[in-house]
Amino acid sequence: MTHEYTAPVPDVRVTEVPEPGAVTIVVPTYNESANIRQLLHQITESVPARLPCEVLFVDDSTDDTPEVIHEAAKDCPFPVTVLHRDEPVGGLGGAVVEGMKAAGSDWVVVMDGDCQHPPSLVPELVATGERANAGLVVASRYIKGGSRAGLAGSYRVAVSRAATWLTKSLFPRRLHGISDPMSGFFAIRRSDITADVLKPLGYKILLELAVRSRPRAVTEVPFVFQDRYAGESKSSAQEGLRFLRHLVGLRTASPVARMVGFGLIGATGFVPNLLGLYALTVLGMHYVPAEILANQLGVAWNFLLIEHLLFRDRRRHRRWWDRAGRFALIANADLVLRIPLIALFVHRFGMGALSATALALVTTFVLRFAGTEALVYLP
Ligand code: GDD
Ligand code: MN
Repeated sequence: MTHEYTAPVPDVRVTEVPEPGAVTIVVPTYNESANIRQLLHQITESVPARLPCEVLFVDDSTDDTPEVIHEAAKDCPFPVTVLHRDEPVGGLGGAVVEGMKAAGSDWVVVMDGDCQHPPSLVPELVATGERANAGLVVASRYIKGGSRAGLAGSYRVAVSRAATWLTKSLFPRRLHGISDPMSGFFAIRRSDITADVLKPLGYKILLELAVRSRPRAVTEVPFVFQDRYAGESKSSAQEGLRFLRHLVGLRTASPVARMVGFGLIGATGFVPNLLGLYALTVLGMHYVPAEILANQLGVAWNFLLIEHLLFRDRRRHRRWWDRAGRFALIANADLVLRIPLIALFVHRFGMGALSATALALVTTFVLRFAGTEALVYLP
């Protein structure tokens, strides 16, 4: 990934090398000009006296947020830096990773720019991490003493609950001990961040870090999710879809998991296949050509899902029509190969028809997966 930054504005204070044990507070911002002063004021009130800190905004705004930060920074007793991205990659999570790469302190605390995360908790997050010798300290809404008071509306509460449950069931081991993997407020030791393996996508940066960076020990501190100080959430339905793609990407990182995903997607292909077959025969087509055509519908459906879910970040090697052609070829070769393969198993190895069919299905499935990996989406 390459990012371009606008040159720092001259009046920004250059970040000095912070003392060991100090903290870099990374704040992702997207059009938050009305919240900046309040946030910096709250940080000033609660952090510097107890902990040397610097604040690093990673900004993707299209409004005057960077200028407002530069202005407000003049009244701050700690260094404030703005890293503005002209070409934002990865959304909120991408911004946070950029901030982590640029951070110089032992600890990085990530928090939102809209005052929903109380800065008064920053020293406690770091102190807890030091005490427990942990790599990650999560500020959680879901342990005793925490709450989600600021999560507006029962709809958002329900969505947040469902997402947390789904995510925890998908990663039982990696998220062990993390009650709130959706939290955007946490402290992480810089030495535990493996920036190179991260592929942030949207809001859930803590999840990304827990699954891919695997920090050594994890602890939690309760917190009360506050109301937004000004403006509105930048989340949207599109962000929800991005979250699902992120989940699939994280879950299918290993080849075995990817093969399972490939199989599950393949299994859903029977729906368009049957619908197509039904429509074509109702229109009066003979069932053999109808079968062949309907099968292509299933292939197209599978291709779309696989493109957008499974091999999302492996599409750059070929053009889309090249990939589609190869994918269709492999899928149809599978069908053509199946009958002679069954015959071979029955006549040559004396297998029963049923077990021969099952074995042929498994064999062609594995071949199709391997072929798709190697010939359509180069690793
Ligand atoms: N740089 C950058 N780029 N910042 C962004 C972007 C982006 O694309 N999108 C949002 N932000 C910033 C916002 O400006 C804000 O400072 C912070 O990220 C959080 O965004 P909100 O839009 O306020 O998020 P939210 O309140 O809906 O969600 C928060 O709470 C959730 C838990 O309910 C976030 O912390 C989520 O990560 C968290 O899951
Ligand atoms: Mn918010």
